[in-house]
Amino acid sequence: MAATDYVVKDIALAEQGKKLALIAEHEMCGLMQTREKYAAQQPLKGIRLAGSLHMTVQTAILIDTLRVLGADVRWCSCNIFSTTDSAAAYIVSTGVPVFAVKGESLEEYWTYTARTAMFPNGEGPQQIVDDGGDLTLLLHKGFNAENDESVLENPENEEVKFLNQAIRFIWEKQGKGWFHKVVPQVRGISEETTTGVNRLYAMKSAGTLLIPCVNVNDSVTKSKFDNVYGCRHSCVDGILRATDVMLAGKIACVCGYGDVGKGCAESLRAQGARVVVTEIDPICALQACMAGYSVARVEDVLPEAEVYVTTTGNKDVITAEHMSKMRHMAIVGNIGHFDNEIEVDKMSKMPGVKRENIKPQVDKFTFPDGHSIILLAEGRLLNLGCANGHPSFVMSNSFTNQTLAQIGIARGDFKTVDVYTLPKILDEEVARLHLPKLGAKLTVLSKEQADYIGVPVEGPYKKDAYRY
Ligand code: NAI
Repeated sequence: MAATDYVVKDIALAEQGKKLALIAEHEMCGLMQTREKYAAQQPLKGIRLAGSLHMTVQTAILIDTLRVLGADVRWCSCNIFSTTDSAAAYIVSTGVPVFAVKGESLEEYWTYTARTAMFPNGEGPQQIVDDGGDLTLLLHKGFNAENDESVLENPENEEVKFLNQAIRFIWEKQGKGWFHKVVPQVRGISEETTTGVNRLYAMKSAGTLLIPCVNVNDSVTKSKFDNVYGCRHSCVDGILRATDVMLAGKIACVCGYGDVGKGCAESLRAQGARVVVTEIDPICALQACMAGYSVARVEDVLPEAEVYVTTTGNKDVITAEHMSKMRHMAIVGNIGHFDNEIEVDKMSKMPGVKRENIKPQVDKFTFPDGHSIILLAEGRLLNLGCANGHPSFVMSNSFTNQTLAQIGIARGDFKTVDVYTLPKILDEEVARLHLPKLGAKLTVLSKEQADYIGVPVEGPYKKDAYRY
């Protein structure tokens, strides 16, 4: 039966979402096998599970899986542009309350995050899947605000204003004290992405973390696959769907050469673009050189580069001043989790700058000297804003990790407040589940060989320090 409590663009899109889900299921072999393996055991039976993660077709298969394993799920997207509306409608049609519309406002975004956390009868979530840490932030800030309401005064920007508003919205509906009741009942959070994980470690060091967390991002089968090969697929996909501009021969600047940067640089090079990388870390800069890219600073490439992609998870990487000096019609986009990598607000408020919308998630900004730049997805992650994000096969790896993390949380594997990673043997298991679909045949160690290199025949095969 369809859910009654939801906000999606158009519930009539459910049929289309269901058909797309069928293609995704076929690709998401590891996730589907994990679903089959645990379905009978019902490891998530009756658990109230709230998710804040891009509401795409691939996420629909994750939600289906969590439900098949017994969870009572509510969901929202973790970015205002990243929802695939048909996938959201499909999930509602299966009975799950979803609050996600592609192009929702920031205010709606935070209200939807709040509504996702509010289960019927005044209850809150017992387990959370988060991507970027906004749902985690809402619960922590709401908890702190019940101790000292002054934390909600003088918000430093619009985003924080709406976050604070969402906390008050929950108080209005559930009464003050709701966060103090709910937060201690949350058994664990599994966090999807680098930026969200960075936030968790920061809270842990500050002593403000209230809930045990699983760092899914740093499973090798997540960050070394989704962040790299996912972006290798979806970076160029987003740029091309947005602009249809030929990339071959152009100079493209990739800011940051971590996992996401490596994938983006490769995808642009594969199109024939000449890629320049910017980095702050000498190791990553050297890696970029050895992979055959030039390494320079954004200022150095302004006269030449026609495409810019930020991948750093840092702020103010492309500044308003940079954009004021770029080539005419340079394309500027970000694929990192938050939009503050590009100084969009400052640039758009520069005297004489004019904005013209080309189509949804594509804007032209013209400077007083007559040159323009094309900004993708208002500076939010371009692969989900201008395309549909990563393809299903790679997301199967990420979401198998998410599912195993949720099962582990339910089983009580992560009781003390801390940030955990999944054991390497599970990481290897996730990879193992995905090999047959690619026709790969693993070599099996003999006992003698295993003893010689000092590993068990069945794994794990690497020390924790190994970096892949
Ligand atoms: P990472 O830590 O592996 O890489 C970031 C790199 O940026 C590092 O090498 C760092 O040295 C460099 N960097 C930092 N500040 C810089 C600056 N001012 N200029 C140049 N380089 C700078 O992180 P990862 O995993 O590559 O993630 C990057 C971002 O992408 C995060 O926000 C993450 O959450 C997000 N992400 C987005 C995805 C998407 O589908 N759009 C998928 C996966 C991650």
